[in-house]
Amino acid sequence: MQEILDYIKKNEEAYIEELKELLRIPSISTLPENKDDVNRCANLVANKLRNAGMSRVEIFQTEGHPLVYGEWLGAPGKPTVLIYGHYDVQPVDPIELWDNPPFEPVVKDGNIFARGATDDKGQMFMHIKSVEAFFKIDGSLPLNVKFIIEGEEEIGSENLESFINMNTELLKCDAVLISDTALFGPGIPTITYGLRGISYMEVELTGPRRDLHSGTFGGAVGNPINLLADIIAGLHDKNGRITIPHFYDDVLKTTLKEKDNFKRLKFSERRFASEAGVKILQGEKGYSTLERLWTRPTLDCNGIIGGFTSKGAKTVIASKATVKISMRLVPNQDPKKISRLFTKHIKDMAPRSVIVEVRDLHRAYPVLTPLDSPATIAASKAMEEAFGKRIVYVRDGGSVPIVTSFSSKLKVPVVLMGLGLDSENLHSPNEHFSLKHFQLGILSSALFFKKYSK
Ligand code: BES
Ligand code: MN
Ligand code: MN
Repeated sequence: MQEILDYIKKNEEAYIEELKELLRIPSISTLPENKDDVNRCANLVANKLRNAGMSRVEIFQTEGHPLVYGEWLGAPGKPTVLIYGHYDVQPVDPIELWDNPPFEPVVKDGNIFARGATDDKGQMFMHIKSVEAFFKIDGSLPLNVKFIIEGEEEIGSENLESFINMNTELLKCDAVLISDTALFGPGIPTITYGLRGISYMEVELTGPRRDLHSGTFGGAVGNPINLLADIIAGLHDKNGRITIPHFYDDVLKTTLKEKDNFKRLKFSERRFASEAGVKILQGEKGYSTLERLWTRPTLDCNGIIGGFTSKGAKTVIASKATVKISMRLVPNQDPKKISRLFTKHIKDMAPRSVIVEVRDLHRAYPVLTPLDSPATIAASKAMEEAFGKRIVYVRDGGSVPIVTSFSSKLKVPVVLMGLGLDSENLHSPNEHFSLKHFQLGILSSALFFKKYSK
């Protein structure tokens, strides 16, 4: 084993150069104009898997972006781990806030900067390199490994979901390993056991058939922007609670034991606020910041469109106003039920002077993973050994839509062994990934394979 770990440490520079190849491809899944780039990225991931030594590598086309599959099943009698990750990335705007072009990776102060560096190309690539190290040194893996790397995580993983439903035999495994979450802090080995779900909606109000002169018509017709603002303002009460009827019905109460664990984590509200770039924190009354982030559902506007937004002034009553709203959900809320409740509530709230359309864009189920599965235990020990520190168990406010499909369709435990940091600007300008954590991730992956194989 030591030889493998040494090999990984020795090859850090080469790994970084290879990661740059992945980071140069603008595989933005949500933008139609990047479709070819997404395809190109799938091909490159497939080549990386082949070159690492995986014996069967295939690209599966879907109705959306391709899935990359790889397997090596040369360890009969040993467990099989399925590694999931995503090669798609978020859009780069606002582009003017990047210090370097998002798809021209640069290394600075121990970090690699590029869109996708931490989410999720850098993290997914750690496992490919750890597999490769085993093949280079031992000529084999200590257990069976499958990879499924998708190109639609950032847009809800819908095609992967149907792929899993139709290919349970191909994906059959004993555990799923995912590196697409964050460490609790720099250098702290972390297993994430909870994720929030999401329900992503869009509301469009249409008032007049065309934009109107705000002098000749203003005051006598409903203004969709004013009315949309009213609706949005009514979605929270003064305690920060969401006002949609029955919204909280299925929310699981946090146990005292879990609250106790949260308190024992050294969480600094001040550092968190400063990372967020705000002076003071704000949220639902009666809950700590960690509880708000990990155990409470939220509702946030993600974008709002309407009327005249160029420079200068134009007197107009817009025909339409649109808002994108996402709700983060917690166990045991069902995103489909929440979407229905949301839609009904918006329709009930909107005045008759406008036409309301509510669209359901995508969703993900909230997740709690078991902490006592052999794979979780192996991952905890692997990280502890790589980092030389005690593991911490955390939940996270983000979502990885496919996780529940793995646990419900493949009926195996999922292990969330993320190496990112919340401060690494994922989905935002100057995204980066710590090269220290990149290496620790490759080492943790290798140690996991060894420990889980026993
Ligand atoms: N890797 C993130 C989720 C994440 C980030 C979890 C940090 C925990 C810590 C993932 O790529 C992501 O961005 N998910 C989206 C899902 C959505 C687009 C369906 C999210 O959470 O917004
Ligand atoms: Mn991700
Ligand atoms: Mn993401």
